[in-house]
Amino acid sequence: MSDYVYDLAKKHHSVRKFKPNAIHREVVKKLIEAGQMASTSSYLQTTTVIGVEDVEKKEALKEVSGQPYVLENGYLLVFVIDYHRHQMASNKQDVNLESSFESAEGLLVGTVDASLMAQNIALTAEDMGYGIVYLGSLRNDVMRVREILELPEYTFPLFGMAIGEPAEDEAGTPKPRLPLDHVFHIDGYSHDEQQLEAQIETYDETVSNYYKARTNGERTETWSEQTSQFMNSKQRVEMLEWLQISGFNKK
Ligand SMILES: Cc1cc2nc3c(=O)[nH]c(=O)nc-3n(C[C@H](O)[C@H](O)[C@H](O)COP(=O)(O)O)c2cc1C
Repeated sequence: MSDYVYDLAKKHHSVRKFKPNAIHREVVKKLIEAGQMASTSSYLQTTTVIGVEDVEKKEALKEVSGQPYVLENGYLLVFVIDYHRHQMASNKQDVNLESSFESAEGLLVGTVDASLMAQNIALTAEDMGYGIVYLGSLRNDVMRVREILELPEYTFPLFGMAIGEPAEDEAGTPKPRLPLDHVFHIDGYSHDEQQLEAQIETYDETVSNYYKARTNGERTETWSEQTSQFMNSKQRVEMLEWLQISGFNKK
């Protein structure tokens, strides 16, 4: 038994400022190998990872995201749900898989698979001394990302990941998470609403103090305030349309 991976996981924080040193493609391939060994629903392996090395393409993806670290990093990955390969594999079989790709279940399977693969890559990269940040901001304009990366039908760009050596002045620290008892329930969902609310209140104070300490008192918001404000604003309302154009979530 060892606490090695536990300690590594507990040290995670997103890195948004990298040294300009490119990560060699051979190292990236090693990361992808580690990612590929993540569990995968029914052995389907529904993920393709696109390494974006072309500076113009990175620039275009930065425009989609609005985040400078999409361009300025050691390496940029984009995680794509991919049933295109299953369509090809099934060509010689007497089957019709469209209804499977196009189901809500197909979308969930693809989303989970890509996320597990990505997190294997994240942890492996962090163990190598790199920092990472996920990039859901690439979904700001899915159609543009489809175009930039020349994605075929039955594929969907789920998120990106910037990887690189953390800059000298990168000052991120692990962010406090919800109390363990709030997210870990035994034998069924806890309906002790009073306790759940009290846990959120305690956590709100922790998060507010965390921001105060990190910003010299400039930021004081609680977790409840932050997440409520975020979820109250309209988020990528075209997503269903973009999913369906890509061949997903039609039934
Ligand atoms: C799927 C996913 C998408 C994310 N997208 C972005 C993003 O577009 N830009 C960004 O700066 N951070 C992004 N993040 C990072 C989260 O903001 C971050 O994980 C969260 O605030 C917790 O902070 P920590 O990773 O430092 O612990 C994303 C994280 C996940 C899991």
